[in-house]
Amino acid sequence: MKKLKMGMVGGGIGAFIGAVHRRSARLDGGADIVAGAFDIDPAKSLEQGRNLGLDPNRVYRTYQEMIKGELALPREERADFIAICTPNHTHFPIAKACLEAGFNVMCEKPMTLTTAEAEALEALVRKTRLTFGLMHTYTGYPMVKLARDIVKAGDIGKIRKVVVQYPQGWLYKLTGRENMQASWRTDPKRSGRAGCMGDIGTHAANLAEFVTGLKITEVLADLSAFVKGRRLDDDGSVLFHMEKGVKGVLVATQIASGEENDLNIWVYGEKKTVAWYQENPNILRVLDQTAPEQVWKRGNAYVAAKSPAAARCSRTPNGHPEGFLEAFANNYINFCDTIRARMEKRKPTALELDFPGIVDGVRGMKFINAVCDSSEQGNVWKKI
Ligand code: NAI
Repeated sequence: MKKLKMGMVGGGIGAFIGAVHRRSARLDGGADIVAGAFDIDPAKSLEQGRNLGLDPNRVYRTYQEMIKGELALPREERADFIAICTPNHTHFPIAKACLEAGFNVMCEKPMTLTTAEAEALEALVRKTRLTFGLMHTYTGYPMVKLARDIVKAGDIGKIRKVVVQYPQGWLYKLTGRENMQASWRTDPKRSGRAGCMGDIGTHAANLAEFVTGLKITEVLADLSAFVKGRRLDDDGSVLFHMEKGVKGVLVATQIASGEENDLNIWVYGEKKTVAWYQENPNILRVLDQTAPEQVWKRGNAYVAAKSPAAARCSRTPNGHPEGFLEAFANNYINFCDTIRARMEKRKPTALELDFPGIVDGVRGMKFINAVCDSSEQGNVWKKI
């Protein structure tokens, strides 16, 4: 396996998600960090490069310098892809510059600030034919892939309803000045039009579309900013309709005191229900009104038989739990295998292509705009 070279923008000292990208990309030995522009403060970027033990010539003051510096290297030495782990408002200019320079991209969500930016990026990905991943973490979990494959096989019958909820509590009273994560997330200039709905509502919507294989077609939203002085939503309830007449409810909130990261989804079919809980991710429950509940456990042969995608994304034996880092790593495995396939001039397989990307990014932006429009216009139905 050719080891891919990773460049990174963001992920400086004290940052949240950059470190998760670095650790998960190298989990299976298929990629490792070689270069970066890690911080908005150039001096701190250099310090982070030293902390990571990188070649000082590959640690840059800005992403523009990184693109220039990496392009100056022989092709076999330069970064094969760049991971963008910065606040939302920077994703578009950085991703655009990387793609235009010929780099594959793994980008954080939400993909851009506006739908127009998202569509411009989509056009660029199609034109350059580069590989673009979007880190919707939760579809990387094996039991979420299993849920999708059980639904796709028709085992639960025609889908009637989806309930997805994503409660967090960490913003229940922070003003935004206390730490860097809260600071940009509560600032419309850096977070975008939505707060909570962009930050975690998009994960929930993406999960609903992934498990059902259906698109959300319209939404009716009620967004709130409960914390005094907050300029963006910190809570939202959304009714939604999907293709094929499926109805849904999505709740995303960051003011649910005491909740950590309790993302849950239930898909109710005409025969059965599938239910998955992110804080207990190694099991998938299948409920049936006429029979005892089934508990599918990750790492077992019966999971592999039902879902090759879940088996491919499992490392440890049954009973040895995997979690968040592994879900990230699963998105990286498929993203990197797709890059490798294209390097070898081979068509990537369906299993390799099983990671979230540019299309999910555009849908995420359309979801954000529709829920904001709906709420601002008095809780009316808005088409996506
Ligand atoms: P953070 O505030 O912890 O870190 C952001 C980092 O980016 C900092 O080191 C900052 O100095 C750096 N930065 C900002 N502008 C830069 C620039 N122009 N050039 C170089 N570095 C720059 O933010 P956090 O929480 O890590 O979030 C980053 C992104 O990741 C956001 O888009 C967020 O929505 C997403 N995210 C995704 C998660 C997932 O599960 N997929 C979980 C958490 C965050």
